[in-house]
Amino acid sequence: MKKIAIFASGNGSNAENIIKYFQSSEQIKVISVASNNPSAQVLLRSKKHSIDTFVFNKNELNNGIVLKKLKKLEVDFIVLAGFLIKIPLNMITTYKNKIINIHPSLLPLHGGKGMFGINVHKKVFESKDTETGITIHFVNQSYDKGAVIFQAKCGLRPNTPPKQIQKKVHKLELKFFPIIIENLLNEPN
Ligand code: GRF
Repeated sequence: MKKIAIFASGNGSNAENIIKYFQSSEQIKVISVASNNPSAQVLLRSKKHSIDTFVFNKNELNNGIVLKKLKKLEVDFIVLAGFLIKIPLNMITTYKNKIINIHPSLLPLHGGKGMFGINVHKKVFESKDTETGITIHFVNQSYDKGAVIFQAKCGLRPNTPPKQIQKKVHKLELKFFPIIIENLLNEPN
């Protein structure tokens, strides 16, 4: 059994989608959802599916308390799904190539600090991009710079508003994120 912890700071539609996807799996389970935001919707979504949750602050993330908790829970793999704080080096080294993130654009386009949520899609709009999509990548010390695992694209008509772009990209996130996680966890180590 491979155990996943999901880290999320906000809404949690991706987290919930991943929880549901693996609910009936015997090999892979989401065992915990962690958030830096005590009022994040993701915590309620997780509890609805009887998934354990824990809340921590930035200090606890950086001083090793969160890492200790993950070890205690015997977490094998970490999924960032809308998690807005930088992952510290001790976690990246301990979980080398076992922490992944999803970004709602075709990296290296429109990534980096401050590029989250609707900001990303506004940038796509302003840049008059004719396509956008999702990037699933390994997490390293720089925001949105880890090795790319997977990208999926969608075409955009001229002047598609940011909200519409977000909707299209969200569909790709829901469709592909769980499958890519499953593929990675099924790879021989
Ligand atoms: C998604 O767009 C994801 O790509 C990004 O943060 C957003 C999280 O959305 N990293 P939700 O909280 O899963 O609804």
